[in-house]
Amino acid sequence: MMTFEIKHRDAMGRIGILNINGKKIETPTIMPVIHPNQKKQIVSMDLINKLADVIITNSYITYKTKHLREIAEEKGIHKLIGFDKVIVTDSGSFQLGVYGDIDVKPLEIIEFQERIGVDVGTILDIPTPPDVDREKAEKDLEETLRRAKASIELKKERGFKLLLNGTIQGSTYLDLRQKSAKEMAKLGFDIYPIGAVVPLMEQYRYKDVAEIIINSKMYLPTNKPVHLFGCGHPMLFALAVALGCDLFDSAAYALYAKDDRYLTERGTLHLDELKDLKAFPCSCPVCSEYTPKELASLNKKDRERLLAEHNLYVTFEEINRIKQAIRDGSLWELVEERCRCHPKLLEGYRVLRKYMDYIEKFDPVTKKSAFFYSGVESMFRPEVLRHKKRLKRIKYEKVYITTVSSSIEKPYHENLNVVETDVDILIKDPVFGFIPYYIDTVYPLSQHEVPELFDHEKEMNNEFIDEFVNWLKKKIGEDNILDIMTYNYYINYFSANKKIDADALRIRKMLQYQYGFDIIDDELMDKIKVVRSKTTGRLRQVLDENGNILFSVRSNDNMLIPSEKGAKLLWEKIPFPKYRVVVNKEAEAFAREGRNVFAKFVVDCDGELRPYEEVLVVNEDDELLAYGTTILNGIELREFNYGLAVKVRGGIK
Ligand code: GUN
Ligand code: ZN
Repeated sequence: MMTFEIKHRDAMGRIGILNINGKKIETPTIMPVIHPNQKKQIVSMDLINKLADVIITNSYITYKTKHLREIAEEKGIHKLIGFDKVIVTDSGSFQLGVYGDIDVKPLEIIEFQERIGVDVGTILDIPTPPDVDREKAEKDLEETLRRAKASIELKKERGFKLLLNGTIQGSTYLDLRQKSAKEMAKLGFDIYPIGAVVPLMEQYRYKDVAEIIINSKMYLPTNKPVHLFGCGHPMLFALAVALGCDLFDSAAYALYAKDDRYLTERGTLHLDELKDLKAFPCSCPVCSEYTPKELASLNKKDRERLLAEHNLYVTFEEINRIKQAIRDGSLWELVEERCRCHPKLLEGYRVLRKYMDYIEKFDPVTKKSAFFYSGVESMFRPEVLRHKKRLKRIKYEKVYITTVSSSIEKPYHENLNVVETDVDILIKDPVFGFIPYYIDTVYPLSQHEVPELFDHEKEMNNEFIDEFVNWLKKKIGEDNILDIMTYNYYINYFSANKKIDADALRIRKMLQYQYGFDIIDDELMDKIKVVRSKTTGRLRQVLDENGNILFSVRSNDNMLIPSEKGAKLLWEKIPFPKYRVVVNKEAEAFAREGRNVFAKFVVDCDGELRPYEEVLVVNEDDELLAYGTTILNGIELREFNYGLAVKVRGGIK
């Protein structure tokens, strides 16, 4: 029995709760590879038990080693390993990859994994190496798919309890990876490992690794964990998590220690390189107790054990750092930092640009932390791409395009002296393309930090600017667009003939940008009242003509958060199914009570929803039941069966 739910998220990464046979695992996490033979296990099981909630070991070695097999069959794998929590086993595929042949049949090893009480077993997939002939890659994949199907059938027929890993193969052929993901998805595995990436990682081919992860992820169900098989170097975790990997396994902690190699989140060092340091650049228990010299002078066995312990500590430390970044909304910043540790890793990161349309669907619409620019790659981040798309949500009639000096702080409207106008003022921005004056406080338009850019960086958005202006010309006609070079008295001149309620217009534009519809129409414009804070002068609330709150302006991101009246207004103005999460009859009463909506009750939704958007919960007749924040996007809302879907703010009785 397995459930998986999302708790927090950033980029395509997620903090999930994976419950396997009643045992909880918080993802992303790392599964230390444990040798089934205790004598070969260099780090004590006490430490493993302290650090890990899930480990991975090898069922093939267990099967083929008489005394291990006997213990496993008699007492179970948990007793053999000395670990009560979740045990995943590999099937011998890796040995197959290394030795070309193994002595076990595909279903025989599934039966064995079930017999010894494994929590999650693995099919005997064929790890096809990179760059083989297409014919071989296809043939291997066909065989893996056949075995996958037979394994699932066996499990069903015999009522096996074990969960199954269905590994994605296809070598370096991306279309085969896609096919593999699609076919495996149909079979309904519990966890989807991405296989045969070890040789690529050994060769620093992170670009291929990134391509393979994303081409697999795009066709895998969103509600199942993905495991990057054989990836144990902490340097890679941030990028892989940002691409939606939830599980990693590490033999690296032990293998590297054998060669006196010291892992860090930025790469690998050899103990020799560290010898002259007074202390290790790490504060784990090992590094706090020993100086590099002391450690280097120990006998091989102790040195290896202590290095392996350090390697394990830093591996978990990086996982924890990534989790913190996800909660904080700063995972992209961490990825950008890590990808600067090796140009090949940066190359891997740069691959994402091609896939940003897809990645953007999973990236939260609002984050706790500000967008930090760390180099040209930041220009292609989902926050920027989404803004460029959503710029087209605003209803333009007359537009002034302008630039302001980079010395002027954002939000512009608090720092520029402007006579406000009903004209849309689009301020050119080297990263975001344009910042519309009337939405300049909305995330991420004020919540970002960009250093002084080089000229070539400033020009990188020229193509987008041209394209957008062309779109605008078609939309409102060339005569209604005025390109003004600097922000000065022209604005006053053109606006002098019409007095407007600038704050009401601001709210109208902010709602257009947030929802893509004109929630406050001409008639409502004259009725609403916008309240600013008396102390800070910032936008606070939108009231209707009777003084009831329609929306509150959330201070950190300036998103408009509806009240019950606001939700009803949104429901009237936004046509079905936009911004809707549709729930079944069973959930109706709960939703009306203001209780949270769980994924299993969701029957449909606006497929374009992004995580953390403010949504309307309705029944199948589009009657408004509640309103709140969706944790899942439009794809996930349809796929998830467990966990929270909408955090409800209020129900409608
Ligand atoms: N360990 C590392 N890579 C692989 C793989 O592709 N398949 C399996 N089953 N185990 C692995
Ligand atoms: Zn250490």
